[in-house]
Amino acid sequence: MRIDIITVLPELLKSPFEASILKRAIAANLVDVHFHNLRDYTTDNYKSVDDTQYGGGAGMVMMVEPIDKCISKLKSERDYDEVIYMTPDGETLNQKIANQISLKENVIILCGHYKGVDQRVRDHLITREISIGDYVLSGGELGAAVLCDAVIRLIPGVLGNETSALTDSFQDNLLAPPIYTKPREYKGWKVPELLFSGNFPEIEKWREAEAYKRTKTRRPDLLDE
Ligand code: ADE
Repeated sequence: MRIDIITVLPELLKSPFEASILKRAIAANLVDVHFHNLRDYTTDNYKSVDDTQYGGGAGMVMMVEPIDKCISKLKSERDYDEVIYMTPDGETLNQKIANQISLKENVIILCGHYKGVDQRVRDHLITREISIGDYVLSGGELGAAVLCDAVIRLIPGVLGNETSALTDSFQDNLLAPPIYTKPREYKGWKVPELLFSGNFPEIEKWREAEAYKRTKTRRPDLLDE
């Protein structure tokens, strides 16, 4: 999978890709991530990417031309399955969307800033709009990092244990059950006895029941889906 991220702040975006799972995925060539500074596609001396709103109103709008130039250059080099715009009014990111995007070959992610982008970008260049939640960030970069993390860990081979993404919360519309590790007892706080029984069918049944219980109390909406 190849991900091209278009941003005015590439330096803000780079560090999540330089540690842990994302770093290893890139090193293993399981994903290829490229950053494009939108200012490299500007035409004036000030490298302007934004301007005032037609019709008046507070806040700057990102101009269509630098974005179109950048996306057109990328599209001249390869085909893209999806051109995603990070925006608070997009569809809210969830595990299903992360799964869908993880199956794509080439994806562009556009990070918005200021008031957002000229509507013509959204009408003519964008294929999918994604929000990471009902709050407004200063820009799309942190949202893009969240999306990339959720997607890249699903690419086969990225996680050490191939099954571990499958047992994450949300993969089957259930939250994950409680988990424990050593020591067996700490300050009198005990691990459920069943987990030492070696009775794996019973342990699996317990985990399913706990996952259901947790989902029912914390996220009953997931059970309706
Ligand atoms: N840009 C600003 N706010 C955002 C959000 N909540 N999700 C994605 N991109 C954004």
